[in-house]
Amino acid sequence: MNYIGRKFPLLPFLQDAILKRMASQQGIFFDVFAGTGVVGQHFKQLGFQIVANDIQYYAYCLNRACVGANRSPRFGHVARCSRGKFPSGVERTLSYLNALPGKEGFVYQNYCQGGNPDGQRMYFADENGRRCDAIRERIETWRRRGRLTEQEYFYLIASLLDAADRVANTASVYAAYLKQLKKTARKPLNLEAVRLIRTQLRHKVYNEEGVGLVGRVPCDVLYMDPPYNQRQYCTNYHVLETIARWDKPRVYGVTGLRPHDGQKSSFCIKSKAPGSLEKMVRATQAKHVFLSYNSEGIMSKEQIMDTLAQFGTVDLEKCNHGRFRADVDRHNRVYKSNQVIEYLFCLKKDRRRGRRDSGI
Ligand SMILES: C[S@@+](CC[C@H](N)C(=O)[O-])C[C@H]1O[C@@H](n2cnc3c(N)ncnc32)[C@H](O)[C@@H]1O
Repeated sequence: MNYIGRKFPLLPFLQDAILKRMASQQGIFFDVFAGTGVVGQHFKQLGFQIVANDIQYYAYCLNRACVGANRSPRFGHVARCSRGKFPSGVERTLSYLNALPGKEGFVYQNYCQGGNPDGQRMYFADENGRRCDAIRERIETWRRRGRLTEQEYFYLIASLLDAADRVANTASVYAAYLKQLKKTARKPLNLEAVRLIRTQLRHKVYNEEGVGLVGRVPCDVLYMDPPYNQRQYCTNYHVLETIARWDKPRVYGVTGLRPHDGQKSSFCIKSKAPGSLEKMVRATQAKHVFLSYNSEGIMSKEQIMDTLAQFGTVDLEKCNHGRFRADVDRHNRVYKSNQVIEYLFCLKKDRRRGRRDSGI
């Protein structure tokens, strides 16, 4: 997924910087702004026990599937309840869902050109909207009838979110749709297997506002990758949120936004971000705190340094990184530079410092 702020290309940088500050590759690693889950997945593979969290429900679903689970689901009940008519096992369940006849449901009616009479919103090709509706409804029916375990349910939702995003007719985010169907949007929506990492440890996933959650989660490492700028994830990924929740909201406006009160992040607001950062670092029980940020974020490097330094010893790792670009931006939008400096602020917390009762 071409997700804003996704850390996939930076995993080697994060791994080097974090591991060299740790005594061992063990303990609880809390990825409190988990997004697509790639950081949690990576540190899970390295041997950590992961706690992941995100305020967005679609991100919760992705993390339930790729971080929370340790083995591939069997889908045994889907087969048993249907007297062998339906397949079991990942491959066959996905093939079955991929072959369903399309249905004119919520996605088709709200996000496809054929489904809304004014011929407006074109987030998906008509046929993909119908495919998405048929698959999403079937997942929900299976769940209602008790044919899916929780893990199986989230696995299928995660696979559908990924499949829908691959064929979305957008310039990467859902703040707008394109006026013409782009090449990838014409390909058929197709569920694929979710990449899983097996470990013996139990991993946990939350769907909460992180500022309040952080003090309640015991952990050794707190990794923070908050939004860097004003772009709220709830408006940029509203279509994925609706597919994940399947609550069929009353959408509004040209872009078909869903109501999103309660999902706006304080990290996207210049006057609130430093206060939220301070609250989280104060509240965490982690000895090591790592914060990803970049040179164009709404908090300055100095502001972050000053905030973190109240709580212990801070140093900074840097690397050059390609700027996030929406697909249509690639050729015709002019930026100051193609590169930004990616920061990793590394704090070793000193328990005696920064405590409210110490008067500091
Ligand atoms: C920069 S992205 C994280 C990207 C992630 N590390 C990855 O590699 O995919 C920031 C994430 O923080 C989430 N978020 C923003 N504010 C939050 C909050 N107050 N509590 C929890 N999650 C929040 C957003 O939904 C978004 O997924």
